[in-house]
Amino acid sequence: MNLEDDETTNRSDNRPFADVLAARVSRRTAIAGGLATMATTFVAPSVVSAQATNGNQATAPGSGGRSRVNFEPVAIADGGGPNPAISPDYQYDVILPWGEPILPPYPEHVNGQKSAADQEKQIGIGHDGMHFFPVGPGNGRGTLALNHEFGRNTHVFGKDDPESLEDVRLSQAAHGISMVEIRKSSRGTWSVVRGHRRNRRVTVNTPVTFSGPAAGHPALGDPTRPSYGTVNNCSSGATPWGTYVTCEENFNGYFGATGGWTPTESQSRYGFSETGFGYGWETFDPRFDLSSPDHTGEDNRFGWCVEIDPNKPRTAPVKRTAMGRFKHEGAAFTTGLGGKVVCYMGDDQRFDYIYKYVSRKSWRAMRAEGVSPLDDGDLYVARFDDDGTGVWLHLDIADPVLANLFADQGELLIDTRLAADALGATPMDRPEWATVAPNGDVYCTLTNNSRRIEPNAANPLAPNADGHIIRWTDTRRNTGLEFEWDIYLFAQDTHGTDDTFSDPDGLWADKHGRLFIETDGGQKDGLNNQIMVADLRTGDLRRLLTGVAGDEITGIAYTPNQRIMFANSQHPGNGDPNLTNFPVMNETPDGATIPRDATFVITKKDGGIVGS
Ligand code: FEO
Ligand code: CA
Ligand code: CA
Ligand code: CA
Repeated sequence: MNLEDDETTNRSDNRPFADVLAARVSRRTAIAGGLATMATTFVAPSVVSAQATNGNQATAPGSGGRSRVNFEPVAIADGGGPNPAISPDYQYDVILPWGEPILPPYPEHVNGQKSAADQEKQIGIGHDGMHFFPVGPGNGRGTLALNHEFGRNTHVFGKDDPESLEDVRLSQAAHGISMVEIRKSSRGTWSVVRGHRRNRRVTVNTPVTFSGPAAGHPALGDPTRPSYGTVNNCSSGATPWGTYVTCEENFNGYFGATGGWTPTESQSRYGFSETGFGYGWETFDPRFDLSSPDHTGEDNRFGWCVEIDPNKPRTAPVKRTAMGRFKHEGAAFTTGLGGKVVCYMGDDQRFDYIYKYVSRKSWRAMRAEGVSPLDDGDLYVARFDDDGTGVWLHLDIADPVLANLFADQGELLIDTRLAADALGATPMDRPEWATVAPNGDVYCTLTNNSRRIEPNAANPLAPNADGHIIRWTDTRRNTGLEFEWDIYLFAQDTHGTDDTFSDPDGLWADKHGRLFIETDGGQKDGLNNQIMVADLRTGDLRRLLTGVAGDEITGIAYTPNQRIMFANSQHPGNGDPNLTNFPVMNETPDGATIPRDATFVITKKDGGIVGS
């Protein structure tokens, strides 16, 4: 989700990342001897071989040898392009469009959504983070977990505002998560396995449970009032033990107030308002009415990481409160020193923070004891210093500063942003996805850096409206409290030339040394969003795919052998059939012409690893 107008709610005096970065770039530029070493040069289709080692010299010194990214790049799509385009060495199919039936009685989606009851049995809208859980050998069959981040009312049910509870229920059913069993046929095409026990929809009306330090906390409201659902599920992660962790991002936007309501300090910090983002759910569903006395604390039941076991489709999703409450973009898991599970998470709002969760001890030992590794552990927030080092600040009630502000660890976690403000975390430029490379380095997309205005030697890319990717290395194999950081890549809007690239968002480091980068900003000059692949060793950066007019490219999933990759076109044409009809899949009686969110299945024509 690209929220250009998202308000800043961080009113702390913490030093913003732009200032730290300016000092850092200034210092290193002096050492490295010139701005050119800081810039990333995009590899355009026509200049691949000439510039193959030109990118990221300062942070990814080329060592010669064969690039891991060898495909012929695709050109940037023209603005308004109605169809996706892919490298000539690759091909794509399209599956799982919004409205595809996955549960009985398999209601067909005919050019627009018809009812909440139908939508509850179908793939939702707003395709975003996902993960492929292989079954058996796993390269031809598995459960795809797929987030449905958001869908505008006009797109979902053709009105600006809901006019009934039915409209609200339809909007709610279009959001959430799909767990869907998919299988590859002998002809290589993928389809839904109907009737499979793992097929499931999770929405904001699905019963959920809470665990960890904030479970049952009075700030969540009456503990006898059942908890339901998850919403605005942006990106996600997968645990080493095979579960899906979906992340609640702009949850504040689904709440509003129909009566008198004065925001608390916490509600202001999390961006709650009388109108929310205009969904209007509060008009017919009092759970989302901030002024409803019967639903006090409902807002605090959102903003969490939510664990779903694909193999237990009848088990309630669990909100893991130890991982903090903020606008969770994604959850990048790795196993660190001592077998502890480590998870990196961004809070996607201007001037918000980057977090890390570390389990108390080995995740295998904890699970053997019947304790979730996501319930008992430590949450940290990052402070970046301008000498290229950084510190993970412990968000723990034992800290005297935090003990002075919060009654207990549960309250601290519910107000994670306020706790992070108090410790002096570094305000970042909209942290989006993180990913952990095989060597333990962590990469995180920052979608823009609008604080810097005047370009100068110390701020070579100011204003950095196009975003960048930061990289850090933690001590003690991802479990330590210190790190070293650097900028891996600055995105560049080159105004209509083929090497333009803005708003990095989706991110995945594969096990071979490639970095997949998706954009979601609506590229400058009306160009379509894209997937790029970088070779982390050489800095070679090539464009694999371009989307369609109006869409964002989201989600990255892959089979174990990495020869099949899944990605999404989110809100193609912004729902407008005049921009694109993608993906027209099955002609229907009244013409299935409205564009629909859908999933790409990307393969290399020679059967090679995707990205090679
Ligand atoms: Fe859901 Fe931050 O994009
Ligand atoms: Ca995103
Ligand atoms: Ca984004
Ligand atoms: Ca963006």
